Amino acid sequence: MNRSNPGLLVSFEGTEGSGKSTLIKGIHAHFKQRGYRVLATREPGGCPLGETLRTLVLSSSMHPKTELFLYEAARSEHFHQVILPALSTPTLVLCDRFTDSTLAYQSYARGLPWEEVNTLNNLASSVQPDLVVFLDIDPEKGLKRARNPNRFEAEGVEFQAQVRMGYLKARTENPERWFTLDDQHFRTLIPTLVQELWRRFGKALECMKI
Ligand code: TYD
Repeated sequence: MNRSNPGLLVSFEGTEGSGKSTLIKGIHAHFKQRGYRVLATREPGGCPLGETLRTLVLSSSMHPKTELFLYEAARSEHFHQVILPALSTPTLVLCDRFTDSTLAYQSYARGLPWEEVNTLNNLASSVQPDLVVFLDIDPEKGLKRARNPNRFEAEGVEFQAQVRMGYLKARTENPERWFTLDDQHFRTLIPTLVQELWRRFGKALECMKI
């Protein structure tokens, strides 16, 4: 766990339509309203160049290696411009997707070598998430919720099932850093996660009060 920074990095992971964005909005509002320093951001994106790269990588099909490098380029820029500066202050950083997305999508689902993707992840961002919140929903249900399918969603349920398997593999490598929310938490996602954040990081969170 990276406890050398005063900030906390919490990433949100899941297959398409898992409800990450809604959960992030809710957690952001919860801490903001109570006077805590909190930042919500996303990958790919989160800064001007990151957003340009996002448009590029989501709009056209390309070789899986090209895709990998674009995600890592977007990550490097976003990490150094936004995440790292925020973590150097007592801030709760909520990131919609991070390095585990690249392991699940580009490695497990697309077939690029796991360890090489890990190496590139570590090169693009020198900090690991303090907590990975994994929204583990049935990929088929998630796809039904997606309104404007991007090109990953368009690949269908089998691809999403592979992505989910990739997440499960990543989780086995660092189980203590993962917190999984599934159908049984459906109605209580925000309070369940708020409670878990306080349980794990109470001292650090107290310092984030403005
Ligand atoms: P987005 O529309 O934000 O999807 P979602 O709302 O499900 O997060 O598009 C981001 C897409 O980029 C999503 O399909 C997952 C994919 N992605 C990767 O393939 N690798 C990565 O490293 C990241 C960060 C995202």
